[in-house]
Amino acid sequence: MTQPEQNPHTAPPHTHRAAAVIGGTHGLGHQLALRARAAGLTTVVYGRSADTVPTATGFDTRRLDLTDLDSVRTADIAMPTPAYVFWVAGAFLKKPLTDTEEAELTGLTHLLFTGPVLFLRRLLAAQEGPVHLVTIASSSSWKRRERESLYCGLKAAQATLTRNLVPELTAAHGGSRVTLINPGGLAVPDFHTGLEIDYGHMMDPGEVAGIIWDLVRRQTAPFQEVQILRSGVPGREGVPEVSFGARVPQPPQAEPIARLP
Ligand SMILES: NC(=O)c1ccc[n+]([C@@H]2O[C@H](COP(=O)([O-])OP(=O)(O)OC[C@H]3O[C@@H](n4cnc5c(N)ncnc54)[C@H](OP(=O)(O)O)[C@@H]3O)[C@@H](O)[C@H]2O)c1
Repeated sequence: MTQPEQNPHTAPPHTHRAAAVIGGTHGLGHQLALRARAAGLTTVVYGRSADTVPTATGFDTRRLDLTDLDSVRTADIAMPTPAYVFWVAGAFLKKPLTDTEEAELTGLTHLLFTGPVLFLRRLLAAQEGPVHLVTIASSSSWKRRERESLYCGLKAAQATLTRNLVPELTAAHGGSRVTLINPGGLAVPDFHTGLEIDYGHMMDPGEVAGIIWDLVRRQTAPFQEVQILRSGVPGREGVPEVSFGARVPQPPQAEPIARLP
């Protein structure tokens, strides 16, 4: 006799055994990895500098360079299942497209899109049961920005791909889940190298990781999209504000075109 199908909309969270963090060596990804380890999960940390994360800390560290096809094709993907897979790795670029060197353009595209998509294809195909994909996109996937067209375009592609993976993943393994997070500015100086930024008005990556982890652990629906934006209220600058659902992309011109007198 076949078992009655579990309703994926009300299914309880799975007992996950592992968490793989693509870009878990630094910043927000490392904060997420710390919480996965604290929850007792086998925690696989991927990144170019994985060798510098002490294994004595309890992480399973694996070198991965998302801009290098060989690395993407050969990095170890074995892990206990069911697993959380956090897609976090990234870098920022603030430059008009016409000033962007070809190597910068292909490098960022490999890092933010082609590399992780190829790596996820391998990693997701190897899952023998439900998986919970957690994508860290950005509010830049829908906000109006200046001199960030390539970064914003790649973040929007990451978010769109993630949404459209939901039916595929749930068809492959009932009970799979996807969480799409769009954070606003984080106090991660390494990410904004060379830019003058008031980090007092940015969100603390540890606090944001705690919010994400809490949402992920309690998710019962197949998909949720979450905005975690920093407050602009005087006296509360940098405080994370959580809201749910996708946002309509902002028009490129924020202000109405000034009328001539
Ligand atoms: N910081 C913000 O204000 C902000 C806001 C919204 C969204 N985000 C998004 O949040 C994510 C994490 O950013 P973060 O602020 O935590 O930055 P971060 O501290 O610079 O961390 C970036 C992570 O990506 C990994 N990475 C970079 N290049 C890589 C490569 N070629 N191959 C494999 N891994 C690579 C890094 O590891 P290795 O150096 O070891 O390779 C590191 O673990 C990014 O996707 C970013 O777009 C950030």
